[in-house]
Amino acid sequence: MAINPNNTLPARHVFYTATTGGGKSMAVQYAGFVPRVPCLAIFDPYGDYLYKTGSKRDNGFGGKRVYHYSTRRGFARAFRQAWGTRKCFRIAYKPPKPNRAEMLWFCELMWAAADGDRRLDVVIEEVAKWVESTAKEQSILGECMTGGRKFGLVMHTVAQRPTEVPKTITSQSPYKIVGMQESRADAERMMKELDCGFEEIKSLKALCYLLKSPGLSNFSSFKIEMGEWSKNQTTTNLAIDRTTI
Ligand SMILES: Nc1ncnc2c1ncn2[C@@H]1O[C@H](COP(=O)(O)OP(=O)(O)OP(=O)(O)O)[C@@H](O)[C@H]1O
Ligand SMILES: [Mg+2]
Repeated sequence: MAINPNNTLPARHVFYTATTGGGKSMAVQYAGFVPRVPCLAIFDPYGDYLYKTGSKRDNGFGGKRVYHYSTRRGFARAFRQAWGTRKCFRIAYKPPKPNRAEMLWFCELMWAAADGDRRLDVVIEEVAKWVESTAKEQSILGECMTGGRKFGLVMHTVAQRPTEVPKTITSQSPYKIVGMQESRADAERMMKELDCGFEEIKSLKALCYLLKSPGLSNFSSFKIEMGEWSKNQTTTNLAIDRTTI
């Protein structure tokens, strides 16, 4: 059970959306919303954050090693141990058969660990695949989104198509990172959130984004520049103060 509620904590959840290859996982790593020295747990069903020593492709989270576990037992044990040390960590759960039950189990564990005295960053990849409808999400995932803030949870939810995501997720995420969209319906969904025009979304390319921050029509654009593969990524025009998030 989550402990030490702290109502003064700000909502920091981030919703990332772009079509496949648009740069969601890159944004999670490089847009600056996960601290450089994080307590980070990832539901990573497709291995977007795998780390292999010496590999240029599987370079973990921002080049840092991520420890993956494919069994509940292994992940739960590693997570409890890592969280108990009070030091930074990056670990991921990659079940062999990802489904809603696995995602909910993962969220239960996060909720049980949540502590308003400490920040815990949680990434849920491909969240649209694990929900039953776009109606209110009343599961433990919804609980993490709505009640997690005061218990130190920072939820990073990732989806290819915003039209497939429950409102609980978009409305509870004060930050939205919008990359290239696949359909007019998806673009229009995000246009409403950002209060921007169709052309602004249509013109987005891979690794180019619009960032919506709290406040009506409050958005800016940024892109992630790839330097030498896996070594030198930078963000440009990112209008956020990293020290405050
Ligand atoms: N380590 C990397 N170095 C350089 N470019 C990369 C790296 N990882 C991904 N890319 C490129 O960045 C772009 C975005 O990739 P990313 O994995 O973030 O997409 P995604 O939106 O998460 O896609 P998916 O929904 O399929 O997971 C792709 O065009 C890819 O070629
Ligand atoms: Mg991805």
